[in-house]
Amino acid sequence: MGQTVRHLLSAADLSREEIFFLLDAAAALKRRPQRLLEGRELALLFEKPSLRTRVSFQVAMRHLGGETIYLAPQEVGLGEREAIKDVSRVLARYVDVVAVRTYGQEIVEEYARYSSIPVINALTNEEHPCQALADLLTVREKLGNDLRGRSIAFVGDGNNVASSLVVTAASLGMDVRMASPRGYMLPENIITEASARAEESGGSLTLTNEPEEAVRGAELLYTDVWTSMGQEREAEQRRIDFAGFQLNRQLVSLAAPGALIMHDLPAHRGEEITDEVMESEGSIIFDQAENRIWAQAAVVAFLLGVADRIEH
Ligand code: CP
Repeated sequence: MGQTVRHLLSAADLSREEIFFLLDAAAALKRRPQRLLEGRELALLFEKPSLRTRVSFQVAMRHLGGETIYLAPQEVGLGEREAIKDVSRVLARYVDVVAVRTYGQEIVEEYARYSSIPVINALTNEEHPCQALADLLTVREKLGNDLRGRSIAFVGDGNNVASSLVVTAASLGMDVRMASPRGYMLPENIITEASARAEESGGSLTLTNEPEEAVRGAELLYTDVWTSMGQEREAEQRRIDFAGFQLNRQLVSLAAPGALIMHDLPAHRGEEITDEVMESEGSIIFDQAENRIWAQAAVVAFLLGVADRIEH
């Protein structure tokens, strides 16, 4: 059992200092890729489809001089063809680090309990910490490294992306606002964690059911799909429940002048965000996608113990 091995399963696994360290490391690697992981291998064990996470991990490892093995959803049968603990222990004999994309958070936690190598959460139903790091790297590029007091409004589902984002942004002292319909608010454990971090960092967390309240004067507007992977049967009900939570010209007009638009992708254009807003001048959506490479390169280097060798 890999109890002393460091994993990244949740945004809350990272201290405030480690978040700063990773964001600085990611920026340094973006300025100058460094071959810190020659001969090292990352396995991508994915039970759900992916464009950004898969490709950006593969490109990140190539920049670091390492290699990847991709295991597609139909290949391994985590917990079905084979027990989670057996898959975990076998893969640890072959590779140096593994990124797992799966369903419940408890699956990646069980996987990590038996892993003698670092495990990275590459998305679960509850968390998407790599996305949050890439998002904050992007925000720093646009607004500067000191994000204390800068305002970010997330409009939509209190889902995995929102959960990891609010914990990370609150750690950096940001003014975090979250607008969701009743019944779709952030989970209690996330609210507790983000509130504690906001208190420590001098930031704030505001929860509301009114998108206008969250967006008013905000410098950054973030949204995500109303129906995440695995919730497809709820899509029709969610379209009804999320009416009024679309990032459109009218809602954006309430934000700070020049507000920046964020989305983790894939987007359902015409649902949570209009074509017009996605394509608008303030959109930094594709910068977020690009920065997945550098945030994840920093995470892998950190978990494999070579991040202190990054030249800044
Ligand atoms: N944002 C994100 O995780 O995209 P993929 O699902 O394509 O990996």
